[in-house]
Formats: sequence, structure tokens, C-alpha cells
Amino acid sequence: ERAGRCVVAVDGPSGSGKSTVSRRLAVGLGARYLDTGAMYRAITWAVLRSGVDLTDAESVAKVAGEVDLRIGTDPQGYGVTADGVNVDAEIRGPEVTGAVSAVAAVPAVRALLVTRQQEMITNAGRIVVEGRDIGSVVAPDADLKVYLTASEAARAARRSAEDATDVAATAADLARRDRLDSTRKADPLTQAADAVVLDTTELGIDEVVGRLRGLLTDRGVA
Ligand code: DC
Repeated sequence: ERAGRCVVAVDGPSGSGKSTVSRRLAVGLGARYLDTGAMYRAITWAVLRSGVDLTDAESVAKVAGEVDLRIGTDPQGYGVTADGVNVDAEIRGPEVTGAVSAVAAVPAVRALLVTRQQEMITNAGRIVVEGRDIGSVVAPDADLKVYLTASEAARAARRSAEDATDVAATAADLARRDRLDSTRKADPLTQAADAVVLDTTELGIDEVVGRLRGLLTDRGVA
């Protein structure tokens, strides 16, 4: 029964405009929104707090399996808690950002979060989901799969404006993270074969959101 159901998968590298576009699209559709990157970040926060060695996949997976992770799906404001602690601010900090690719590369961590994400998608009905492996692994039957890209320069400029950091340092960090996220063995950043690719380098947010609304209308799903 697909009536009323609408799943939009938005994948792409950091700084491609995924989060802003996904949230705005969800608000416009009256849909829920799931930030899967925030889930990997919250697990990373718990791993860092536990003090286990980031290169010890077994210990990292054990911490991930024990943490009580909760995330909201309101596109206009969702909280993330780990073991009852609100981690909204910490998961955006440099420590978590520096460690998240290593944690997200652990297959057992991915298996755990993919299952959680699939449950949340089933329960939501109408939802925009953003990440790296949504169209390829988490929701291969999504109604619309979008792959957002942008030039490295544009992505670094956006991220450094958001984080108030130096563009050169941000560019280096983005390149490092993209390389790790794209080359890992478990569910790497992937452009699904049936994804619509949009290069946002020269496009404004409203333009991208408008195009996605048009695609959904064309498909008769929203
Ligand atoms: O989108 P973001 O920057 O908040 O994602 C944080 C990290 O989590 C990113 O480096 C890759 C990883 N990630 C992932 O592996 N799979 C996802 N579905 C979402 C994020």
C-alpha cells in the first residue's frame, strides 16, 4: 500500500547543499526529514566519549550497539540525543567531524543505522532522507533519488561560511572526508543508477528545490 507514501532520497558529498535542500523540500511537502549524517555523528560522539580506539572496529561497533540514539524528524527542528544527552552542538564540532568518517566505515555500525533508518522511513510515510547511501542501500525503492554535486571550490566556500572557518583548511578537510566516504568498502558514497544528478554550483537553493518539486509532480507522487 503506497497511498500517501513518498520517499525522497538525497545523496551527495559534503557542501553539495543536501541539508538545506532536503529540509526545505520536506517543509514544502509537509513531509518528515531524516538527517542520517547526524546519526553517524551522534554515534561518533559516543565513541569519542567512551575513549575506545577509533581504529578498533570491534570496540567501535560495541559502543554503537549500546548507545541509546534518538533523532527527531521535524524538518524545522529535530533534536539528537545520545544516552539522554542532547548532542546537537557537539556533533557539529571539529572532534566529531574529524572522526566520523572512520566510524561510518565500520560495517557493523552501518548495518545498525541502516536498519534504524529503514524503520523510521517505514513509519514516516512521507519523508525526505539525506545521506550518502540512501538511494543505493537504505531506500532503493525511493520515489525519487537525487544526487547533488557542486564544484570543490563551491562546496568548500559553503562549508566555511557555515562553520566560520578558513576556506583552505575546510577544502582540505572536505577532500579528506570525501575520499574516505567514497572509497570505504561498506556502502560508500554512491550515485544510484536511477538518481537524478543536479550540479548545484550555479544553482540557488530555491531553484534546486523547485526542480525537485517539478520532478515529483511529473511522477505523480507529490
Ligand atoms: O552529511 P554529514 O556531513 O553530516 O555526514 C557525516 C559523515 O557521516 C560523513 O562524513 C559520511 C557519513 N555518512 C555516511 O557514511 N552515510 C550516510 N548515510 C550519512 C553520512
